[in-house]
Amino acid sequence: MLFPPTLLNRLRETRHLVVLTGAGVSQESGIPTFRDALTGLWARFDAEQLATPEAFLADPALVWGWYEWRRGQVLRCQPNAGHRTIAELARRVPRLTLITQNVDGLHERAGSPAVLALHGSLHRPHCADCGQAHPLPDAPSALPDGGACLPPPRCGACGGLVRPGVVWFGESLPVEVWQAAQSAAGACDLLLSVGTSSLVSPAAELPVMAADQGALVVQINPAVTALNAVAQINLRGTAARILPELLAQAWPDDDAMPAPPAQEAPCC
Ligand code: APR
Repeated sequence: MLFPPTLLNRLRETRHLVVLTGAGVSQESGIPTFRDALTGLWARFDAEQLATPEAFLADPALVWGWYEWRRGQVLRCQPNAGHRTIAELARRVPRLTLITQNVDGLHERAGSPAVLALHGSLHRPHCADCGQAHPLPDAPSALPDGGACLPPPRCGACGGLVRPGVVWFGESLPVEVWQAAQSAAGACDLLLSVGTSSLVSPAAELPVMAADQGALVVQINPAVTALNAVAQINLRGTAARILPELLAQAWPDDDAMPAPPAQEAPCC
């Protein structure tokens, strides 16, 4: 795919690039998205039953087991060329703000220096009562596919139940992270939206904020989404294919992307 010169010039000349990612950027690492038909987590599991504070209160072992299953899946996966290109872009532009809806930690493992994780992390659980962070063993308990009920640990400080460190439906985003994301969208000159259905607010408002203040908004997604009407450029394809190509076309003379780790292949 040859990218429009406007985009390549803007990428080379950007003063402040925002990259907003969703589950699609991790799909080529073997992690299912949320809403892709049949394969998406919400096609196989009921979000209401698993990703709400009420669900955790009703059945802590069901919810904890499911998140530990997902953490195990993620730890068996590797960042892909999409994650690595975003980390490399941060070395090529004066300022890059990476905002993700993902809770898998693959951006950090790909070497992205600072990540605004709007929806929290699978790797940072905390006490549901006192908020105390709770250290997790590196390897989660071995669980059958699809997870199994697993009683959550107890908080070392107050004895309360430890909950997954993710933002559930009906909960607010971490204030400082959201404020930093809003100010970046309000100040950037280029925003890349990669692998999100743009259906979940408030994250879906960020590209609109950027467009409203004059930034060029570019979407990378193999499917049409609600963002097609907002983005000035829509690139139809996958993150791990389009992002490395975009980098190579924007900086044709620079050294190519760092080589991927030998064992890169979808894991699950
Ligand atoms: N590369 C790029 N995009 C992809 C790829 C890929 N390889 N595979 C799928 N996609 C696209 C899909 O077409 C879809 O538009 O990624 C998008 C994934 O959308 P969702 O499953 O809705 O995930 P996301 O947008 O991240 O969901 C937002 O909703 O369920 C909550 O908290 C959860 O953070 C999540 C939020």
